Amino acid sequence: MIIKYIRPVILILALVVVFSFCAKKESDKIEKGKIEMGIKKQSFGKTPDGIDVDLYTLTNANGLKARLITYGAILVSLEVPDKNGTPGDIVLGYDDLDGYIKENPYFGAIVGRYGNRIAKGKFKLDGVEYRLATNNDENHLHGGIKGFDKVVWQAETVQKKEAAGVKFTYLSKDGEEGYPGNLPCTVIYELTNADELKVRYEATTDKATPINLTHHSYFNLAGQGTGDILSHQVLLAADYYTPVDEALIPTGELRPVKDSPMDFTSAKAIGKEVDLVKGGYDHNFVLNNQNGTLALAAKVVEFSSGRIMEIYTTEPGIQFYTGNFLDGTITGKAGKVYKKHYGFCLETQHYPDSPNKPNFPSVILRPGEKYTHLTVHKFYASQE
Ligand code: GLA
Repeated sequence: MIIKYIRPVILILALVVVFSFCAKKESDKIEKGKIEMGIKKQSFGKTPDGIDVDLYTLTNANGLKARLITYGAILVSLEVPDKNGTPGDIVLGYDDLDGYIKENPYFGAIVGRYGNRIAKGKFKLDGVEYRLATNNDENHLHGGIKGFDKVVWQAETVQKKEAAGVKFTYLSKDGEEGYPGNLPCTVIYELTNADELKVRYEATTDKATPINLTHHSYFNLAGQGTGDILSHQVLLAADYYTPVDEALIPTGELRPVKDSPMDFTSAKAIGKEVDLVKGGYDHNFVLNNQNGTLALAAKVVEFSSGRIMEIYTTEPGIQFYTGNFLDGTITGKAGKVYKKHYGFCLETQHYPDSPNKPNFPSVILRPGEKYTHLTVHKFYASQE
């Protein structure tokens, strides 16, 4: 009697399981244009010296989500749909503030006062020699020991018809990490309904100073922590790059990329020639557009997810870094272990060591002038 009913019962149970799995998959999908745009503020804990850190979640009408914190003006996650409409977090990072405070290789951070290296932490300006904090052997890297990535920024929300945003402000004081001049800075992140993440920078100063602000997300368009980024296809709008010495300081030369592994003028897989570059890519590319208008700098395609990212910038350079120093010792979000090449950075910027390279575009901001920089990350997915 019982045996007679066992098979149909098992069949019904199996159907229920399959059906609820499919229903869940469907509900994971994002319905374009149907989500309520918005900004949510929450606590993200306190720094060891007791300063409150806030988390802002920006959502656009298509369900893209950017989460930003006031510590380092860090983008802690960025959820973007894949070709099936399923969202995935495409930037490396940590689950909590502690992770960012203990050891952060600049995941998602705003880098300043000077992104990348200044040789021997020294430069001369208007006849005066300045000495900066050195934190990369004998060189100065990404603003020094306590750069803009390690300070708590003030924040206010920015709500527009077609965008949700956060405006971060920070006053870098005269003498901070060795730099001259009080430098009030503003960084506005906006998530638009055209599926763009815009980063807009502004600063002024009361003494002449070098400045080079950038954003340092490590991307993996297949999803953070899912593997290496070597099969991502990259195109860079750059016919020249700045070769570096052993310590990654530019030699001053602008060298054509043609016939070298540096040639990304047509899209190619990151992994195609990465082994021909000592340590991996960690180079500044000289963008073809040098007139300060917004122009395409990079396009990255990841075939398995279909995700595509385009980067537009007003800056003259872009640092292409392939996560060469990640070595499996960092456990990031959702317990993922980050190994070599698990993320890539495309940092829009002026060239490294410009304060010591008179032939590079100037990075000096003077009283009465305004520093501005706009970078736009545009996301979409392709079925191919
Ligand atoms: C930049 C530098 C790299 C490295 C990373 C952070 O991309 O060019 O050499 O310092 O930041 O680890």
